[in-house]
Amino acid sequence: MSVTVLLLLVTLCVQGGYGEEREEVQRPGHVSVVIVGGTGDLAKKYLWQGFFQLYINQVSSGNTFSFYGGGLSPADKATPLLFEILKAVSCSKDVSQERCALLKDQFLRLSQYRQLKTLEDYQDLAEHIKKQLQQEGMTEAGRLFYLSVPAFAYADIADKINNSCRPASGAWLRVVLEKPFGHDFRSAQVLASQLGSSLKDEEMYRIDHYLGKQVVTKILPFRIENKRFLDPIWNKQHIERVEIVLKETLDVKGRIPFYDQYGVIRDVLQNHLTEVMTLLTMRLPVNLSSSEEVLQNKLHIFSSLLPLEKNQAVIGPVPSHTNICSSANKQSCLCVSAVLAHIDQAQYEDVPILLISGKMLDERVGYARILFKNDIFCLQNHNSIHCKPKQIVFYFGHGSLQYPAILVSKNLFKPVLTDSEWKEVTEHTDVSVLGLSLSDYYVQTPTEQREAYTELISHIFAGRKNSFISTENLLASWGLWTPLLSTLSSSFPRIYPGGADNGDLLDVRLKGKDIRFNSEVVIISPDQMGSTSAGGFQVMQGKFRSADMVSAWAEELVERLAADIEELAEAAVRESGVFHLALSGGSSPLALFHRLALHHFSFPWRNTHVWMVDERCVPLTELESNFYTLHNHLLQHVRIPYYNIHPMPVQLNHRLCVEEDGGAQLYETEISKWVNGSSFHFVLLGVGYDSHTASLFPGTKVKEFGESLVALTESPVKPHQRMSLTFSAINRAQRVALLVMGKGKHELITQLSRVKDDPEKWPVTGVKPTNGRLVWYMDYDALLG
Ligand SMILES: *[C@@H]1O[C@H](CO)[C@@H](O)[C@H](O)[C@H]1NC(C)=O
Ligand SMILES: *[C@@H]1O[C@H](CO)[C@@H](O)[C@H](O)[C@H]1NC(C)=O
Ligand SMILES: *[C@@H]1O[C@H](CO)[C@@H](O)[C@H](O)[C@H]1NC(C)=O
Repeated sequence: MSVTVLLLLVTLCVQGGYGEEREEVQRPGHVSVVIVGGTGDLAKKYLWQGFFQLYINQVSSGNTFSFYGGGLSPADKATPLLFEILKAVSCSKDVSQERCALLKDQFLRLSQYRQLKTLEDYQDLAEHIKKQLQQEGMTEAGRLFYLSVPAFAYADIADKINNSCRPASGAWLRVVLEKPFGHDFRSAQVLASQLGSSLKDEEMYRIDHYLGKQVVTKILPFRIENKRFLDPIWNKQHIERVEIVLKETLDVKGRIPFYDQYGVIRDVLQNHLTEVMTLLTMRLPVNLSSSEEVLQNKLHIFSSLLPLEKNQAVIGPVPSHTNICSSANKQSCLCVSAVLAHIDQAQYEDVPILLISGKMLDERVGYARILFKNDIFCLQNHNSIHCKPKQIVFYFGHGSLQYPAILVSKNLFKPVLTDSEWKEVTEHTDVSVLGLSLSDYYVQTPTEQREAYTELISHIFAGRKNSFISTENLLASWGLWTPLLSTLSSSFPRIYPGGADNGDLLDVRLKGKDIRFNSEVVIISPDQMGSTSAGGFQVMQGKFRSADMVSAWAEELVERLAADIEELAEAAVRESGVFHLALSGGSSPLALFHRLALHHFSFPWRNTHVWMVDERCVPLTELESNFYTLHNHLLQHVRIPYYNIHPMPVQLNHRLCVEEDGGAQLYETEISKWVNGSSFHFVLLGVGYDSHTASLFPGTKVKEFGESLVALTESPVKPHQRMSLTFSAINRAQRVALLVMGKGKHELITQLSRVKDDPEKWPVTGVKPTNGRLVWYMDYDALLG
């Protein structure tokens, strides 16, 4: 039984039957319901059930009904489909089986499929309705069109409705629309003005199904019923923060296309969570049934919201274990977003309002929590209710509690219960909700759970516009979100490896008016964005493992690295007349060598000393030698004095890397002699699939090297013997660059984003310049996979 219809009947009674005032709005008569997209998923899952419920509630109201499922397919194909769906509707528990069967039978007989493709189809429908009214001598109450079709079709259908399906005066027309209503302010405005040419604002019902959730519809009534408790504490002196959270689990199947286009801010924050925020913070209307007043108060909140600055949002993660994200369209794959809003009103000054949503998380739950300040410090009895969080939780459903409820912690007040549709829960199961066990709360829940759509359909029928998004409301919301979305469009999501173990990677923290991810792993915050190429955000800066990171597509990345080296070289030469550069072997730096050789003609090679980071224990003239590669690809192309080149002495006394020959010590001495403080200006490192860097492999007992700058090491792959700079040498450097490129490194990067420093297991984590600076240069393939 629908709450609205009950309310409506109650109102009617109070007003003395079908009073004049009501009759204007809602005279009883025949109602035609048309679901355009009537065999689609939403219709199948919720809409027909909602209309069946409406029909049951209205059976003895004096209204009569026809139901039309409309679609593009011809009737002979779609009719059986529609009836399959209709047969599946069910009655609520209070209806007996017999009666239910009867009602269902009637409902099916009142329903039919109609092809609704061309203007003629709509004209035919109008003609059909007209004839039916005449034949049966019925007055028309109104026509309800539910557009359950993609948004791009709205304007066209609305136009057809206006042109052919308007009822005669005296009857109402209501057209219901589903989100998305545009993807930013501009597109929402365009859509609104297109619709506005066919429909009057009062004829449009924009659905935000969140506004049909029982707990959400109860927010304002709850605030009013408990006004005397809430008034003294509903302000900045008492509220610590407000959190509005919607978490979903892994199941984004079937939703990916939508997600791909819209992302979490557009999908959830701009509409559902923003609406809840306004309900929580708006001034209470004097007359709750006055849609105008409610809307005005809502709009007032929108105009008081401070603009959302870029530091007030964190976005990501890119779930690295799925292929949702195409690297070309990074914005689309933002599965988590946390945004910090503030209201510029004395009442809420500086109160943080957090809007958080994520897909693919640990649990499915939605709630709004008002956390109050608690200034009681408990020295002994920590279990006393005084010591616990003071909070009111509007629990929309799912999660640990499993049912919708309003929870007030017992250290606040006992909420009033006047609504017969709600009851108090006194039998407490052993669950904990947001840090408090259920028995620490006063809990209220609806006596009967109802689907949001069923609820909203009854509101549409009753003409209650409160639960829908007006054009003004919609544009105000986009006005708030659009600037942030455009800032974020050039920013970079964080990578999230997924899985429950990594959950705390998603924790956010508030720092003043900013919001951050708690762990500084792979975050590129928008303010660190740097753009070097004229063509937009091709090179970006951010953080990886608490160090700086530069990221771009491979080619830009290499150019950026080359430019950075050149800049540092020039600075070093200006300052001390010399630049000491230590280069790694491996394949990653080859592109860099080419770049330096072919594009950086002003590089101060004359004053540059080139050192080796590591070397394979093979003769320097062999292909496998790092030095040989370096020579081939770089040194022979630039004008560098031969005595500035410092290959590693891997071959001494006609043998390779023999401890007693002291090659490592020799190189160390050479470094100390040339390099001031043995501190290289620049060390270029790569990282292998096993996370080795230089020739420091997993399992290398790096501690045993002590203070040595150079050591002989063992590689798991041939040639096994290596000579390498140690972490002591690397970490003395003024600048260390870690170059990581290629999709193949993505998995490693994901792992590295969550491991702790452990140089023997993950050698690259040992790179921590003592006084210098580490920068990761990572291409998008490695970063995003
Ligand atoms: C609907 O169509 C009529 C003409 O058929 C037009 O005059 C009117 O402006 C349209 N829009 C509304 C909201 O009635
Ligand atoms: C409240 O608003 C409704 C709808 O606008 C109206 O019908 C009703 O008379 C109002 N009640 C009061 C007490 O003003
Ligand atoms: C050597 O380094 C020290 C400190 O790092 C610095 O004070 C000194 O000027 C440097 N010497 C040269 C010749 O650059």
